[in-house]
Amino acid sequence: MTIFRGTVLDTPGDERVGAVRLRADPDAALLVEGGRVTARGAFADVMAAAGSAERHDVVDLTDGLILPGLVDTHVHYPQVRIIGGLGLPLLQWLEERALPEEARLQSVTYARGVAAEFVHGLTSAGTTTALVFGSHFAPAMDVLFEAAATAGLRVTAGLVASDRGLPKPLLTTPDRFYDESMALASRWHLHGRTRFAVTPRFSYSASVAMLDACASVLKDVDGALFTSHVNENVSEVAAVAELFRGAEHYVATYDRHGLVGPRTVLAHNVHATAPELALLAARGASVAHCPSSNAALGSGLFPLARHVEQGVRVALGSDVGAGTGFFILKEGLHAYLTQRSLGSGGLPLAAADLLHLATRSGALALGLGEEVGDLSVGKQFDAIWVRPRPGEPLAVGLRHASSPEDALARTIALATPSDLAGVWIAGEQVPAVHPG
Ligand code: GUN
Ligand code: ZN
Repeated sequence: MTIFRGTVLDTPGDERVGAVRLRADPDAALLVEGGRVTARGAFADVMAAAGSAERHDVVDLTDGLILPGLVDTHVHYPQVRIIGGLGLPLLQWLEERALPEEARLQSVTYARGVAAEFVHGLTSAGTTTALVFGSHFAPAMDVLFEAAATAGLRVTAGLVASDRGLPKPLLTTPDRFYDESMALASRWHLHGRTRFAVTPRFSYSASVAMLDACASVLKDVDGALFTSHVNENVSEVAAVAELFRGAEHYVATYDRHGLVGPRTVLAHNVHATAPELALLAARGASVAHCPSSNAALGSGLFPLARHVEQGVRVALGSDVGAGTGFFILKEGLHAYLTQRSLGSGGLPLAAADLLHLATRSGALALGLGEEVGDLSVGKQFDAIWVRPRPGEPLAVGLRHASSPEDALARTIALATPSDLAGVWIAGEQVPAVHPG
């Protein structure tokens, strides 16, 4: 048994984004047994209830803040080495920056180096749970799952499917995609903390036959997730409309194959139409909002208010490598700034809303709301310790914060991954392993 002592901030409720309540417990204790929180309360009370202090390890995290582990609902494994390719719109960025790099993962040796850097990128940024957009190559996916499992990360990922519109080395066939996906799922789905996700790159690069193969994998892998891209960029949306002349809209290109449901996470949705939002809400699907990527590629300003009004669940994605880094609290800041940039059309967001988007919203989107996303009794102890070094801007900010909400707002504004002094998954501290 371990007792973690400190100031705990989390957002365990299910209020809509824009009205989230912060739970703030100064000098709290979380009793953790078998990786789960089994008691939570004032430090003195939990200690008294737990009996003699000698029988427990007390981990003193009283300086700084304890937050739930961060949840990234959209992050590309093969793109860790191309973060920062600024100045291009989506389709040109894919052609010039992303796809040439993704083709290199055909080499398992290359993929191994990328996977080590990718997993380090997640853990060092406090991401403990992620829906990972995979590689087009099955051996590179084994490498990713191995690296994630070694680190203890909660990773859901799958082989990426494309059979048109991309450079030849990245293309496969529906039959091959089905067979390789089933083999990967047999090794990694519900294996420890890893799960499988059916992942067509986007309908721009998937034929009807490929989307049917995706539906078959989704049906045959019980509990698998479905993820892809949607409505990111106006040229992409126009190209998809051209390719799927019979479809009512972009979301329908997936929905026609039964791919949109409660275990679906679609990234971006910047240019969503009202019927698409209504359909996503009716299906219980989630949208991964990737604000730094949307800004970097000039994709547009995300209509969060329309998603929330229609009842579509939204969580955050870093979208590395179009996104500008792994840190989900920075995505929270970008989400806030995006809504401010929309003026009266933007949804006003408080720090508690941003923490919810970065933690519990993500857990719910990934079907893990009973396990992670907050630090209630019964949840896994997945946590980060925000403790800046003395003199860092965040240390100054936290010292002058007037309330827990203010401390959280300062953290979202100022924190960087180097302000994280510890990351735990299921009660175990994740070692800071640098890939070298
Ligand atoms: N749409 C299809 N592929 C990608 C990708 O790799 N990144 C982004 N941002 N959008 C995509
Ligand atoms: Zn993406």
